[in-house]
Amino acid sequence: MKIVVIGGSGLIGSKLVKNLRERGHDALAASPRTGVNSITGEGLAEALDGADVVVDVANAPSWEDQAVLEFFETSSRNLLAAEAAAGVRHHVALSIVGSERLPECGYFRAKVAQESLIKASGMPYTILRATQFFEFVGGIAQAATVGEEIRLSPALIQPIASDDVAAALTEVALAAPVNGTLEVGGPEAVPLDEMVRRMLRATQDARKVVADVHARYFGAVLDDQSLTPGKSPRLGAIRFEDWLAQSTAEAGR
Ligand SMILES: NC(=O)c1ccc[n+]([C@@H]2O[C@H](COP(=O)([O-])OP(=O)(O)OC[C@H]3O[C@@H](n4cnc5c(N)ncnc54)[C@H](OP(=O)(O)O)[C@@H]3O)[C@@H](O)[C@H]2O)c1
Repeated sequence: MKIVVIGGSGLIGSKLVKNLRERGHDALAASPRTGVNSITGEGLAEALDGADVVVDVANAPSWEDQAVLEFFETSSRNLLAAEAAAGVRHHVALSIVGSERLPECGYFRAKVAQESLIKASGMPYTILRATQFFEFVGGIAQAATVGEEIRLSPALIQPIASDDVAAALTEVALAAPVNGTLEVGGPEAVPLDEMVRRMLRATQDARKVVADVHARYFGAVLDDQSLTPGKSPRLGAIRFEDWLAQSTAEAGR
């Protein structure tokens, strides 16, 4: 099959392209650096020529409320129109578990807008919602840091390794469209403050984590259901401790 991965040079996209090629598929890594731009439309028709499936794992360069909304809306509209013109049979998109539960956060609103355009498009689709990537836990800590202190909600979070997300997305891309939403999460749910403490210990980071039920996560107050998957999600196998041990060893090399 010819599978076009929009955002194919990114964290998830590059792993997905590798997985699909290993399975013998014609996977095209499409992104501005390979001349394919879902905002300007540059290179889109050529990339989609003969494609069976399009997987959208592009991400916005700016996460400012209006900019991120415009990115996901414009990109999705352009992609869905180009896919219809090219006769693509399956649109797959990666979204985030709980997006509709945190409307205070502009990034989540943009992901909900992306999902709505897909659902209304008439294109056969599958939306895979993943929890936060392990690679993003450092960014969560950074965004909540004031001086030497990191104030975080103790609400449960169930992050997942990007390798496990790419594996789940590979299965979804090769399966028939479900015209619905699937979820994938990490192997364990842990309070967010504790997750970040584990990361700081492993990276010998001296910052102090303070648990605060009122602390906002990118503008939103969390509870234990905000960021955790619903019933029967697919679960990744890689544990945070093992991923941390491997990534800190690699960083030290
Ligand atoms: N971070 C999380 O915890 C999390 C959790 C669940 C879901 N997600 C979703 O996962 C998806 C992938 O995230 P990621 O971390 O893998 O992204 P990433 O590493 O930041 O990569 C972003 C990709 O988007 C491409 N891109 C940017 N502008 C583009 C444009 N105008 N046209 C086409 N491609 C464009 C980039 O291409 P260039 O390299 O050429 O610029 C790059 O390949 C996102 O949609 C995100 O919402 C993230």
